[in-house]
Amino acid sequence: DKGPYRHYMLKEIFEQPTVIADTLEGRIHDGRLLESCFGVGASALLDQVRQVHIVACGTSYHAGLVARYWLEELGVPASVEVASEYRYRDPVIAPGTLFVSISQSGETADTLAALRGAKARGCLGSLAICNVPESSLVRESGLVLMTRAGREIGVASTKAFTTQLVALRLLSIALGRRHALTLEREQLLVSELTALPAQVEAALALNKDIERLAEAFADKHHALFLGRGTQYAVAMEGALKLKEISYIHAEAYAAGELKHGPLALVDPTMPVLCVLPDNALQEKVVSNLQEVRARGGELFLFADAGLDVHFEGSGVHLLRVGPVSDSIAPVVFTVPLQLLAYHVAVLKGTDVDQPRNLAKSVTVE
Ligand code: F6R
Repeated sequence: DKGPYRHYMLKEIFEQPTVIADTLEGRIHDGRLLESCFGVGASALLDQVRQVHIVACGTSYHAGLVARYWLEELGVPASVEVASEYRYRDPVIAPGTLFVSISQSGETADTLAALRGAKARGCLGSLAICNVPESSLVRESGLVLMTRAGREIGVASTKAFTTQLVALRLLSIALGRRHALTLEREQLLVSELTALPAQVEAALALNKDIERLAEAFADKHHALFLGRGTQYAVAMEGALKLKEISYIHAEAYAAGELKHGPLALVDPTMPVLCVLPDNALQEKVVSNLQEVRARGGELFLFADAGLDVHFEGSGVHLLRVGPVSDSIAPVVFTVPLQLLAYHVAVLKGTDVDQPRNLAKSVTVE
């Protein structure tokens, strides 16, 4: 039942504050993570983890990319790869490797094959971050952390992605504890997670503004999405959403890569979308954007409300998000990009919930 919403995708976007809160429920207490959320015997296994291999496909892979920054920041070595590559490589699985799969459906053929391969190569253990309790991935993994997004009907994944990020934030706390994470920092991270549903709610309040912004986007054929750090992965996810449901060709680049090629594409007909949170990289991103403006590129900027950013001239669309703390910014900044893709698709008249050529669950390779 879509309730008051025109499409399942929009309904699922608006469910995010609730399902994020559900995904945290009973897993944090008194400013700390409860490790029992990973299942029986998890703590003893986590003690032995030296590094993490994260493997997934599509949107779930983008969640993994964000998690790499989170894990490394806390001293935990991590690699991330799409399952269709990982399964056919000869990955070296060093002692102490935890294999982490991320999947909404838990039935993605490549992700399952990658898990089986890692087990055959003797990984220390496996953890599935998954949305379907009775799925193959859950059955075949030693540890499980369920996202509690509820059934996701829209083919383009939205609430599954943001709850995956929440689950990965919990995993990074668990492993971080065994590396560089202090008690004080853990309490801060947990309090920021607790604030997340309200922050996502505030991002959803931008819906009307984004609907207007979508009008400036709907006649475009191409777009560049830029970000740095965790927001590079957010830009990748935003570009994927736009491609999937509006059929506009969108490419994400790490903002620092712009001058190594894609800048040649920038002219007044090329929209450039950028996510700009308030963190140590913001000045670098702003200088990349000045290069875009100097070439007349139309800029769609989603910037943290706490930042003092100004761009001269017309062709700049500035939308304020937050202010939001860096540890949860990838979740919050994802929301306006989901809404933008949605409204552009509606304007273009595509089948939003069932985009052409795509299936909800990819059970064949
Ligand atoms: C994008 C999308 C796909 C899936 C991918 C993996 O909106 O839905 O890219 O993320 O097919 O699916 P799961 O997460 O079920 O393994």
